[in-house]
Amino acid sequence: MQKKYFIIGVLTLSLLQSCTTAIIDEDLTPITRVVTYDTDVETIMFNRCITCHGGPAPESGLDLSTYQNTRYSAESGNLIERMNDQTNPMPPNGLVSPELRQVMDKWVSDGFLEN
Ligand code: HEC
Repeated sequence: MQKKYFIIGVLTLSLLQSCTTAIIDEDLTPITRVVTYDTDVETIMFNRCITCHGGPAPESGLDLSTYQNTRYSAESGNLIERMNDQTNPMPPNGLVSPELRQVMDKWVSDGFLEN
């Protein structure tokens, strides 16, 4: 009996897991224009991240108020992963919209352009 519930639990968990790996909603219209830090990413960082990741003592030592730092965290750190992590999201109170996350993904695939 116990084993049965364990198996049901594992199955439910793996189902939930497979849902959370879909990073971007498939219904989103692909972005065709070029995304840059100056036109898009800076605003997202300033509106959604800087309250904690800016100032004299940024959370986790991560200051996202400059192009260089944001690029470094997206390119070599876990910024993109955390922005798409349902269980450990950034910002901590819930993921930003799929549209904004799609913009971040396009910034990455366009090559982290500044302007
Ligand atoms: C309410 C405060 C708050 C906001 C807003 C916030 N963060 Fe964070 N962030 C934290 C805290 C606290 C940590 C350290 C604990 C953790 O990793 O969960 C952290 C950790 C991180 C890390 C991991 C750093 C490392 O060294 O592993 C990344 C990447 C990150 N945040 C990115 C972002 C991004 C991008 C945004 C905006 C989309 C954002 N955060 C918004 C509080 C915040």
